[in-house]
Amino acid sequence: MSKILLINGPNLNLLGTRETDIYGSRTLADIEAEFIEEAAALQLQAETFQSNNEGAIVDRIHQAAKDAVEVIIINPGAYTHTSVAIRDALAGVGISTIEVHLSNIYQREEFRHHSFVAPVAKGQIAGFGPLGYLMALWAARRMIAGS
Ligand code: DQA
Repeated sequence: MSKILLINGPNLNLLGTRETDIYGSRTLADIEAEFIEEAAALQLQAETFQSNNEGAIVDRIHQAAKDAVEVIIINPGAYTHTSVAIRDALAGVGISTIEVHLSNIYQREEFRHHSFVAPVAKGQIAGFGPLGYLMALWAARRMIAGS
């Protein structure tokens, strides 16, 4: 079974209570459980990882290459706008990557409009809330099938 890794960056562990007007009221545990369930229905083996630490995310991306992960789905949180290290890790392992944001970052503050990850990602999904993770999974399924 093809392996998919879902990575969520800083503060996304606070989903459910964090700025619910922007991010909604669902918890990360709830979103991850739905993700794993949908992956299984698509014959994909999903793992999830969340960290508030940039280095831990870099290490997890390196591990994904050793684990033969085929697609990384990542919401880098605020590191989207700051982290050359996460961008370089993704480029370094060369695993197809889909960038996801719950909110539409282009409708928000100017500093959220730039993503260091976008140039090394296959594509980006932003503004659909938790549905974006499932959309990314459907795209991953097609990418793996080569269609
Ligand atoms: C986010 C958008 C980022 O700008 C922000 O720092 C986050 C969440 C999103 O999912 O909409 O932490 O990545």
